[in-house]
Amino acid sequence: MGIGRKRMRRLRTTEAMRRLVRDISISADDLVYPLFVKAGSGIKSPIKSMDGCFHFSDDTVVEEAAEVMSLGIPAVLLFGLPGQKDQQGSGAWMDDGVVQQAVRAIKKQLPELLVITDVCLCEYTSHGHCGVINSGKVDNDKTCQLLAKTAVSHAHCGADMIAPSDMMDGRVGVIRDALDEAGFVDTAIMAYSAKYASAFYGPFRDAAESAPSFGDRKSYQMDFRSAGQAVAQMNLDIEQGADIIMVKPAVGYLDVISRARQRFDVPVAAYNVSGEYMMINDAAKAGHLDREQAIMETLFSIKRAGADIIVTYFAKEAAEIIRKQ
Ligand code: PBG
Repeated sequence: MGIGRKRMRRLRTTEAMRRLVRDISISADDLVYPLFVKAGSGIKSPIKSMDGCFHFSDDTVVEEAAEVMSLGIPAVLLFGLPGQKDQQGSGAWMDDGVVQQAVRAIKKQLPELLVITDVCLCEYTSHGHCGVINSGKVDNDKTCQLLAKTAVSHAHCGADMIAPSDMMDGRVGVIRDALDEAGFVDTAIMAYSAKYASAFYGPFRDAAESAPSFGDRKSYQMDFRSAGQAVAQMNLDIEQGADIIMVKPAVGYLDVISRARQRFDVPVAAYNVSGEYMMINDAAKAGHLDREQAIMETLFSIKRAGADIIVTYFAKEAAEIIRKQ
């Protein structure tokens, strides 16, 4: 048997040839950069568990958002760390809450930057769960009402898109109705639809001070031993009015991203989470791999699986890498 006529290496011979035939690309347009805002002023303090990320206050976050925008990244995703937490998580929907103030400040200075807000109660509750507790359990329906209130308060301040990450049943529909009733018919919803209970959120929970004080999130976030449920979750969210569906985490869940792409016609986002971010940071620091190459290979794997949008702490760095290529 000869080698055959088909030689795959022909198309790999030179960089120009490889550039010509490649079929996946990433641009800054595909990226979303997460930002953490804290109550206070003049804050820009490094987050210990997440190298290269900072806590900002509503005044300093504007400068950072401007830098993100100047790199060609279209959107930021805001997380809030309130001054005070309580059982209900009331800091989440306060008119002068930390995210509310940050949204106002950013939209005032940078009206063209898309501002997405994470909607969840875990950063605001004293117990750290994503909803209110009733007899030791997270009360789904009561939580949905509070999430809707939070979403409307973000929209009032100018948020362009609401991203519920709590995994309560029915929250997308309740939020959509509340936004519409309040007149925010154009405020979009990016639902964390297939969000798994994951060890890879570890660094984020330090950054957002949101680790649950008892139990875990397994009664609302998905079991990673399941794939079919992800499709059901995404289906439900689309039915209830999600404009964009999200899979989270990304790297260990490329199969789920791929299913989402094949099954649905809405944009698919993937969240390259804090643990995935720190694994590359630490491995590069230890000299095990080339940082820039590992970042781009990871982002391309997420894109290749079918994600249109990638939420990543690497967004700024990736935009710079893309620019110089
Ligand atoms: C809030 C939320 C979490 C993340 C995004 N939104 C934490 C969690 O669900 O425990 C994780 C993000 C990351 O790890 O980068 N519910």
